[in-house]
Amino acid sequence: MTNKIRKAVFPAAGLGTRFLPATKSSPKEMLPLVDKPLIQYAVEEAVESGIESILIITGRDKSAIENHFDISFELEQLLQARGKTAQFEQVRAISDIAQISYTRQKQALGLGHAIYQAKAFVGEEPFAVLLADDIVDGDDPALSQMVNVFEKYNAPVIATMQVEGEAISRFGVIDAEEVESNVYKIRDMVEKPAFEDAPSDLAIIGRYIFTPDIFPAIEKTEKGAGGEIQITDAMRQLLKDREFYALKLEGTRHDAGDKLGFLIATVELALKRDDLGAAFREYLKSLKL
Ligand code: G1P
Repeated sequence: MTNKIRKAVFPAAGLGTRFLPATKSSPKEMLPLVDKPLIQYAVEEAVESGIESILIITGRDKSAIENHFDISFELEQLLQARGKTAQFEQVRAISDIAQISYTRQKQALGLGHAIYQAKAFVGEEPFAVLLADDIVDGDDPALSQMVNVFEKYNAPVIATMQVEGEAISRFGVIDAEEVESNVYKIRDMVEKPAFEDAPSDLAIIGRYIFTPDIFPAIEKTEKGAGGEIQITDAMRQLLKDREFYALKLEGTRHDAGDKLGFLIATVELALKRDDLGAAFREYLKSLKL
């Protein structure tokens, strides 16, 4: 079994109910932050972290994702004919970014069930899972920070961050012991606990490195929070047999699948742009807030 993380799975079959009406017929993964769809940020992060092969788990009304990573023949011809070389190269690079395949999750039965659709693709190697609406903005790609921890401890790794107050109940939450700066050995975890029951303020965020033994664990997992097959419950099963670690990521995490989180991410990323940042900053300063 190779120990290099070469494959990544992107669950993208969710119905995007937190972002209606924009997500009525278009996938939430295609919502743009400034000018780039959410899923492209996550795919770029994966590729920068060493991923070669990607499986996107899609559902109905998700063909825009496949089109985005395909060659756009007419557009490319037009850009070339008009001498718009930079734009041509930008568009072409998206279809060359990685080897991407697709499979459908026919029913939205939960994140654990979505990840299970990747069993044949993954085979016998460790792999990453990235949830595209969690955008992590930092100097080092989030997944590559986690790959380092995986290689050191030779065990599955999930991403975590501190969440203050009642908001913790929107996440999976870990009970864990810090073993080195920002690295935790997980004792237990629970999906979306009530605030009073949360074992800590350490929330799970949408980056995971799994080993293939997660699949039999998902098979044994019954419906949990929200009546769905939860990946947190499958990890909890596996925790009986093997060690699991969590890494507090460096960088800022944005929940771009949430309307307010999306607005915040848009502003933060726009301010960092060389081509837009200065003018946008001037505009924001002019607002009489
Ligand atoms: C999922 C996971 C949850 C995690 C969250 C991070 O929940 O089930 O454990 O904390 O992603 O974004 P969802 O946001 O899909 O409800």
